[in-house]
Amino acid sequence: MNDACAIRLVHARRVWDSRGRPTVEAEVGLEDGSLGRALVPAGASKGTREALELRDGGARFGGLDVLNAVANVNGEIARAVLGQRADDQAALDERLVELDGTPNKARLGANATLAVSMAAAHAAAASHGVPLYVYIGGPDATLLPLPQIQIFGGGAHAGRRVDIQDFMVVCPAAGSFAQALEWTAEVYRHAGLLMQARGAQSGVADEGGWWPVFDSNEQALEALVAAIERAGFVPGAQVAIALDIAASEFGRNGRYTLGLEQRELDADGLIELLLRWIDKYPIVSIEDPLAEDDADAFARFTRAAGQRVQIVGDDLLVSSAPLVRQAAANGAANAVLLKPNQRGTLTETLQAWESARSLGYAGIVSARSGETEDTTIVHLAIGWQAGQLKVGSFARSERMVKWNEALRIEERLGARARFAGAGVFGRNPVAGR
Ligand code: PGA
Ligand code: ZN
Repeated sequence: MNDACAIRLVHARRVWDSRGRPTVEAEVGLEDGSLGRALVPAGASKGTREALELRDGGARFGGLDVLNAVANVNGEIARAVLGQRADDQAALDERLVELDGTPNKARLGANATLAVSMAAAHAAAASHGVPLYVYIGGPDATLLPLPQIQIFGGGAHAGRRVDIQDFMVVCPAAGSFAQALEWTAEVYRHAGLLMQARGAQSGVADEGGWWPVFDSNEQALEALVAAIERAGFVPGAQVAIALDIAASEFGRNGRYTLGLEQRELDADGLIELLLRWIDKYPIVSIEDPLAEDDADAFARFTRAAGQRVQIVGDDLLVSSAPLVRQAAANGAANAVLLKPNQRGTLTETLQAWESARSLGYAGIVSARSGETEDTTIVHLAIGWQAGQLKVGSFARSERMVKWNEALRIEERLGARARFAGAGVFGRNPVAGR
């Protein structure tokens, strides 16, 4: 087959992520000489219904090596996709799904399949001679996402120093993506100075947010508001707060244990606490407010707060179209977090977004806590017109590489660039029922 876009070469190797752990990198080469490369990220606070990340087990690197996933790419997957067109992403991804043969990539590993799925997209874009976001989204791909940027990191990303995982800011009043970053840079800097002044600056957490030396979760919220003010912004009007509670990490069977404050809440107790925070602080978005096994409470919270704030399903939805449809039927969440490695192919992740969008949900393309220099998700956020992007804090190059890539794209789009303001927040499609 000598089609210019036919896959001629597939090669994977083991590389290292931002936590110093092994991960999979794949390269896909085409008949016309185009080459694409992609690296796979890894989560720490993973949803139980995510596609399986294949790890070798045993003693080496704490069992986290990925030599089997690498071998699966170089052997079985390579043989199956050689000659396939890289620019028919749906057919290529379907081939990967069929080849694996399990509902959750348990045989080949979602880290193996995603590396190939993403590398093929990069190769196809190169072959077409356009940046990936243009290849994916065409001439309509002009919407720069509203970034959710972490200021304090907590939960599983900071040794559970505080229970809440992400204390983030969003800048819906900024005039451009570039300006949103400028504002965030000042907030991040002032948050660091504030911690220093309190004698509480102890480095950064996994995603680069300041290490959360606080006596309570609420103290982190107070510090965040103070940092926004010291940076010279009006909390709420200019710079607002987004939280990832990541409640599956401290809640099971309807019981939630706030380790820092040494108290246990039931679902309604946690809902009450979050509603109080929404009243008191300029919060515009809350992710995983309840645990993944507490769908009814998730829906109750959505009914109570979904008209006022964006309610994001991460562990609840794991970038799965069927789970998005189920949540919509139950009235849970009004936005979906989109992490390609939760599914293992680009096409399945896009299907989750298409389902969500058609049901009135907002979308946030997201990195993982274990990241690399890969910038694919930035192109997905713009190409898919998701409207929002979450990649961690405003420090560490595995985060900055993504913000910087979006800056380049905004500059390249010039006058055609649009910036997603507050209008991108989801509204609960079933609220008020
Ligand atoms: P993870 O965290 O990558 O560790 O799952 C990110 C998130 O929960 O959004
Ligand atoms: Zn999350």
